[in-house]
Amino acid sequence: MSLTVLNLWKSFPTRNGDLSILRGAHLKMQAGDALAILGPSGSGKSTLLHILGTLDRPTDGEVRFHDQDPFALPEKELAHFRNRNIGFVFQDHYLLPQCSVLENVLIPSLAGVVENRAELEARARSLLEKVGLQERLEHRPAELSGGERQRVAIARALLFHPQLVLADEPTGNLDRRTAQAVGQLLLDLQQQEKTMLIVVTHSPELARTLPMQLEMIDGVLQPWKP
Ligand SMILES: Nc1ncnc2c1ncn2[C@@H]1O[C@H](COP(=O)(O)OP(=O)(O)OP(=O)(O)O)[C@@H](O)[C@H]1O
Ligand SMILES: [Mg+2]
Repeated sequence: MSLTVLNLWKSFPTRNGDLSILRGAHLKMQAGDALAILGPSGSGKSTLLHILGTLDRPTDGEVRFHDQDPFALPEKELAHFRNRNIGFVFQDHYLLPQCSVLENVLIPSLAGVVENRAELEARARSLLEKVGLQERLEHRPAELSGGERQRVAIARALLFHPQLVLADEPTGNLDRRTAQAVGQLLLDLQQQEKTMLIVVTHSPELARTLPMQLEMIDGVLQPWKP
């Protein structure tokens, strides 16, 4: 599996006309690749992740997963594509407070029909073991530390063996040591699962732990020059 981004543009309307945030970004990744994206606040990193996550459409340019243009799909099929192929980890964990840890990891399976519920639950348990939370399956998010909540969010993102995992400041709310541990866990799991991983971060320390780094500057992805 591969991801190809060609000449990606994204503009937002403003009172003074359109403002182009992405201005011809290019990117190519293969299964097993892991990439950090750095860049100043407001440079369009989250905008790019939203488009790669098919949550938002580009103004111009192409996004291809292998040979497929997800934006050519009807809305319902696009939602299904996103659900099965893309895992998200955000700065805020977005766990449901009333649900247990195990239920939270299974949330992606609540959308649409799932044939093999027992298998999925086994997958969720196995992921929770990999992130070191096998003793916490019945806990509520409020009973976990910030780092543990992010571990649940990582397990949730991987439930359906996604082709691509997108992490936007996944360690932004954590102290330095916890951030390191969570960053390393994300990378370890990505390597085990052979997905593509993109981590947006302001932390050069986290970025250096990934094999590739790019910087968003003037709406394009450029080599990172720390
Ligand atoms: N839906 C939207 N409508 C209008 N403008 C938007 C929208 N989404 C993002 N923008 C603008 O696009 C620019 C880039 O935003 P984006 O969130 O992608 O930056 P970022 O690089 O992720 O920044 P940070 O590091 O602070 O998270 C900002 O100026 C923002 O105001
Ligand atoms: Mg952002």
